[in-house]
Formats: sequence, C-alpha cells, structure tokens
Amino acid sequence: MKLRDLWFDPSHLYIGGTWRPAAGGDTIGVTDPSTGEEITRIARGLPEDVDAAVAAAHEAFAGEWGALDAAERGRLMMRLSELVKARGDTLAMLECLDVGKPLNQCHGDVKQLARYLEFYAGAADKLHGETIPYQRGYTVMTLREPHGVTGHIVPWNYPMQIVGRSIGASLAAGNACVLKPAEDASLSSLALASLVEEAGFPKGAYNVVTGFGGEVGAALSEHPGLHHVSFTGSVGVGRMIQTAAAKNVVPVTLELGGKSPHIVFDDVDLDDALPTLVGACMQAAGQTCSAASRVLVQRGVYEEVVRRMAAIYETMVAGPAPDNHNLGPLVSAKQKQTVEGYIAKGGDLTIAARGKIADTAPKGGFYVRPTLFRDVDPDHPLAQEEIFGPVQVVIPFEDEADAIRIANGTEYGLVAGIWTRDGGRQMRLARKLDVGQVFVNNYGAGGGVELPFGGVGKSGHGREKGFEALYAFTRLKTIVLRHGD
Ligand code: NAI
Ligand code: MG
Repeated sequence: MKLRDLWFDPSHLYIGGTWRPAAGGDTIGVTDPSTGEEITRIARGLPEDVDAAVAAAHEAFAGEWGALDAAERGRLMMRLSELVKARGDTLAMLECLDVGKPLNQCHGDVKQLARYLEFYAGAADKLHGETIPYQRGYTVMTLREPHGVTGHIVPWNYPMQIVGRSIGASLAAGNACVLKPAEDASLSSLALASLVEEAGFPKGAYNVVTGFGGEVGAALSEHPGLHHVSFTGSVGVGRMIQTAAAKNVVPVTLELGGKSPHIVFDDVDLDDALPTLVGACMQAAGQTCSAASRVLVQRGVYEEVVRRMAAIYETMVAGPAPDNHNLGPLVSAKQKQTVEGYIAKGGDLTIAARGKIADTAPKGGFYVRPTLFRDVDPDHPLAQEEIFGPVQVVIPFEDEADAIRIANGTEYGLVAGIWTRDGGRQMRLARKLDVGQVFVNNYGAGGGVELPFGGVGKSGHGREKGFEALYAFTRLKTIVLRHGD
C-alpha cells in the first residue's frame, strides 16, 4: 500500500518555515513494518541541510520567535496541542504504518503528545528565577533564559511522545529547535511541522531535518551553532553525542534505555500485579526504554508467578499493527534480527512460554514471537543487555538484600517497579535502587508527563518531563545589584 493524499509532502524537509527537498535531492524509503513494503519516501538530509536549519533557528531566536512574550509562546503551543487532537486519528494511523505499533497504542501516543504540548504551554509563563538574600545594600536575582538553539535527536520507538517532551519543554523555555527524527519513524515529526505552521508559529522556531543518523544526526550533534543537545537512543550513539557536545562545550541530555527490574515480593496481590508484570514489557513490542524486561520474584510465589505469566504469554499474538493485536511487528528487519539473535543466545535457558504470530501477518513483516525465559542467571547476557523486543526474563530471589543486589546489578538504571504491601520495605527499596524512577505497586513505563524522567549509569543523565525538563532547557543568570542602604 502506498500512502497517498497526505496534507504535507513527506519527501521535503521543514526548514525556516518552508518545505524543501534535501540538498542532494535524495530520498529514503519508508517501510511499513507490518508488511515490509515501502509506503512513501522521506528526504535524505545532508550536513548542508543541517547548516540551513541551524541558521534558520538562529534567525528565529534573534527575530520574531525570540521576541515573543512567554504567554504568547504558551498560546501558540496550546493551539498546536488542539491541532494535534483534531488530527489525532490521522496522526495515529501514520505512526501505526510507520513504526508498526498497534493502532490503539498510537492513539495513546497522540494523546500524550497533545498533553506534553498542553503541559508545557501552561508552564511557559510560569518559569521564573528567584531573589537571593545577600549582603546589605544589594539585591540579587536569577533569570531563567533560553539557551538559544537546541538540537533534538530522537529514536523510532515513541516518536510522538519523545518529540512532545523534548520539543515541548524547549519551545516553552523560548528556544528554537532543530529536530532529527529517526530514519525509521519520521512521518509524525513532519506531520507536526505542518501543524506548527497551521498554528502560526514564527518561521524557524521548529525545524525538521530527516535523514540517516551518520549523516544528519552526526552533523547536528557536532554543529557549533547548537547551545544544547538532547538525545534518546542507544548507549553507543549517546557516547558519540556527548563527545561531540564536549568539543563544542555545550550541555547534553542523554536518555539511553535500560534493563529495568520489576520486583515481586511474596506478600503481593498477584491478581493486581500480573497484567502489569507482562504489559510493562510488551507495550510497543518491548521496544521501550523503560520496559520492565527483568522480573525478579521472591521464592514463595516464584512458581505461581512464572505459571501465570506463561499463561498470559500463551494467549499473546503479534500481528498487523492496524488490527490491534497484543503487539505489532518490530520496527525494522534489523531490529527483528537483533532480537532473534538474543533469543538464540538464550539457547541454554528454559523458555517458560511463547506467544504466536497471527495467521493474517504478511510474510514480509518484522514479527517476533513474545518469549518468556525462566530461572535466568542475573549475569546472563539476556538479564544484562537491553534487548528491545518482546522478551522477558524471570529471576528468583530470596530476600530484600538479594533483590536489591540483583536489581542494581546491571550497568543501567532507568526505572524500577516494586510490588509489596509492606510499607517500610517499599520505602527502603525505593531509596536503595539506583534508578531515576521507582513505581510502587504500579509501573508507569516511564509515563506521566508531569514526572521527571531519566537515568543513572549507562541509562544516561539529565531529566526530561515535568518542570525539571524546563530547567534543563534554560541557562541561569545571576544579577547582583548594589544600590546601597
Ligand atoms: P540509535 O541510537 O542508532 O538511534 C537513535 C537516533 O540516533 C536515531 O535518530 C538515529 O538516526 C540517530 N543516530 C544514529 N547514529 C548517529 C550518529 N552517529 N550521530 C548522531 N545521531 C545518530 O539506535 P538504533 O540503532 O535505532 O537502535 C539500536 C538499539 O538502541 C536498540 O536495540 C535499543 O537497545 C537502543 N535504543 C534505545 C532507545 C531508547 O529509548 N532509549 C531508542 C532506540 C534504540
Ligand atoms: Mg518505518
């Protein structure tokens, strides 16, 4: 199937408020992961296009966009949020065809995008500095100023949510943005550009350059015209982004995924916990940075949890994304291959259960059967490395100390979930886990627009979402005024 009659041209870049082909005139095929077929083409941007986008953002910041009152920025963002909701059905379907995520989950992503824009719209004129008590005869104040031009490199797993949280906070703080979406998931960022235009944003406040990571991504992260870089993706690329930023001496925010533990104690209400134990990993077919991919279970309920999780796995079906199965395909042939490689690495382990691939699933689609491994050694690669697919490992533990040791025993530290009714234990664990977010008797999979989010260790640094993200997108200036008694 070819995508036709879109209201924007996906083969164009959006730079300085105008749509144009890439400097080299080349395009990249867009694949529907449910079928493996090409549905349209996007522009293959080049470093020259990045130069043009950064220049356009500078012009916007020095010009009309930078001169707007904070309240006016908020109004524009609120209008954009309304437009996202109004075009919600189309945006959801575009994302579904582009990334292979079940349509109902794409509707959830649209809602989150609109909600990020709404949250940050409301915050734009409430972001203020402080006055600081100092010596007699002085008044000291701090100003929260925008950095200027910010670069945003986003992955393919939650394009709308990640663009919403990153661009939303940056624009609200008054920066002009240059966005490089993932080559496997650029359509929603381009669609958003058309809505930015319709909302009436000054030209150059939001620029999109599509293309390959090694071309556009590298050129953007190394660009000396940027004042801040925000990146979500793999550890390897994150390291390159930070190195490039170091050369330009600019701040970075890195969100690099994880191997998040879900810890289940004997005293838990299993009926309550079970759907979440599976769902917190299977969302987006396991391609979630905060996926609860390790389930740590105390001995007393271990067999029961494995048996009941296995029963859920046996009902799970991976199928075409528009048909709303439990999960869709993975985003690309490459990701399918990576995940199947991991499943093969588990050859010495016990598979507790596997789900199915729908009979209706086209042969060319990138489907992987959901797979549950049991009795996995905490040091096994499947319990240590981010798989980014529908694969979960279950690990037994004896007591609280054992649970903490295993939970903290990877290089990552993004999110953790704890299931216990013991209040003291909830708090002890929450404080001892080396992660950025802890969920007690629930698991938000990083969700919650209001909730600061980010990791420790190889999961990255800096916080996105909530008010915290706004601070990251500003630079603080201290003004000391000597006026005398
Ligand atoms: P990736 O890190 O290569 O891609 C993320 C973004 O970085 C994309 O926009 C890509 O075009 C860009 N990029 C790639 N190379 C670049 C470079 N040299 N300079 C600047 N930007 C560059 O991730 P990939 O290859 O798509 O996925 C590989 C693994 O990364 C996954 O299996 C998963 O484990 C992890 N990952 C984690 C994500 C998270 O949410 N934390 C999201 C996506 C991937
Ligand atoms: Mg695609």
